[in-house]
Amino acid sequence: MKTKTIETTFVELEGENDLSDEDKVLLEQARKATKEAYAPYSSFHVGAALRTKHGAVVRGSNFENASYPLCLCAERSAIAAARSAYGSPKIDCMAITASTDKAELSNPVTPCGACRQVLFEVEQIQGSPLKLILEGKNGKIWVLKTVSDLVPLAFDGTFLR
Ligand code: THU
Repeated sequence: MKTKTIETTFVELEGENDLSDEDKVLLEQARKATKEAYAPYSSFHVGAALRTKHGAVVRGSNFENASYPLCLCAERSAIAAARSAYGSPKIDCMAITASTDKAELSNPVTPCGACRQVLFEVEQIQGSPLKLILEGKNGKIWVLKTVSDLVPLAFDGTFLR
């Protein structure tokens, strides 16, 4: 019997000052996207903004439905929008923010399992890291260099071939 351990590394920033200028812009766009969310059922507003390799910024926000399982997450909305606009762009970075009156959000909000899986696939097909910048309500920011750090023991296309 062997016990195996997987470690994840991420950077915690006290505020946006330690981000590069282009990452600050992306975070600001994610905050804007949070305001564009349609979330009357959960009151949990999520905004995502991604930056392509060529510098285009695309926003996405969650879009809920009275039939709850149909809710669209912000992250996947942004990826679908980017692919609609630009084909299959390489995505260097995605910033994600959230806002709700119902909870503290003292830690940055991390993507749900479904979004992690989709972001992981994006990273696999583009063959380069997709950095994540996650912001909570108290200004704390987490930066993950790659989606892989969020999806240990990931299921991917190699299992199907
Ligand atoms: N949500 C996202 O947009 N992204 C996530 O990664 C987590 C959850 C949305 C879906 C739903 O509209 C609301 O947040 C509450 O789950």
